[in-house]
Amino acid sequence: MPDKPVTLTEFIIEEERHFKQATGSFTLLLTQIENAAKIIASHVKKSGLVDILGSAGKTNTSGEQVQKLDVFANELLVSTLLESGQVYAIMSEELDEPVFSKKNRGHYVVCFDPLDGSSNIDSNVSIGTIFSIYHKNPDLFQPGIKQVAAGYILYGSSVMFVYSCGRGVNGFTLDPSIGSFLLSHPKIKIPEKGDTYSINEAYFHLFDQKLQQYITDLKEKKEYKLRYIGSMVADIHRTLLTGGIFLNPANKKSPEGKLRLLFEVNPLSFIVNQAGGSATTGYLDPLIIKPTQLIHRTPIAIGSRQEVKNYILSLQRSL
Ligand code: AHG
Ligand code: MN
Ligand code: MN
Repeated sequence: MPDKPVTLTEFIIEEERHFKQATGSFTLLLTQIENAAKIIASHVKKSGLVDILGSAGKTNTSGEQVQKLDVFANELLVSTLLESGQVYAIMSEELDEPVFSKKNRGHYVVCFDPLDGSSNIDSNVSIGTIFSIYHKNPDLFQPGIKQVAAGYILYGSSVMFVYSCGRGVNGFTLDPSIGSFLLSHPKIKIPEKGDTYSINEAYFHLFDQKLQQYITDLKEKKEYKLRYIGSMVADIHRTLLTGGIFLNPANKKSPEGKLRLLFEVNPLSFIVNQAGGSATTGYLDPLIIKPTQLIHRTPIAIGSRQEVKNYILSLQRSL
């Protein structure tokens, strides 16, 4: 008999056994995120049909208002998490304020980017959902090292759920015929070195001299390829599997960088760290930064350990 594939739900239950104080609450929370992810994935698959079924802001053939996908994903995640009873507070890239559970229920704080890379939706390019889980704390702005788990769902040529609760990283692929995520990428390890760099090079003229020099040096080595999707979650997923470095640095127009600590940088840095890679703002580990506001941005480079190290060294060199 062939080995039975392991489903995400089975894996989550099994993994929770390794945590002494586990009560099942964490399993329930992750399972609810998994359920929401399946619903978002099915909407993403239908997004090319908006012109014939009704576009955002208009009514569809059933007479219902069609929502923009990122608004839909946000509302679905908020309601699913609140109903789960496991979440004390929710912070989302799409919300101006944290949302608290009624009656102060729940042990966890969840942060998410409901749809990352949303500008790619209309061109049928990979997008994703990113989430990050912390223990309940009166101060909601906890540094990324306090994450108890983080993960993402990638809506690509297949749908993948990749997560870590601090015991390595595992990836699951949705089998559409049975509607379950199956363990397809156990114990993901990022290569120590890679041959791909990923940055929006159109901003080259806005970068400082050291960064310009770093990019020029990469090209002169003639060993590197450039890949840039414009959905961080998809760029990080490729980097995780094949190695290399992803950068979203500061530039003259965005001196803090573009990406958000709570919703993009912390969860994806946590995952890559757990897979044996590293992350830096250029000068420090992003996971030690205490957020000062909901939309706290930071410059970031994430990837293979050796590539990130070379990047840090290049910024330390005097020109
Ligand atoms: P979001 O769709 O959640 O607003 O995030 C988009 C982000 C990130 O996914 C991506 O790496 C970056 O924006 C791309 O920015 P540029 O187009 O400026 O390169
Ligand atoms: Mn995003
Ligand atoms: Mn987003």
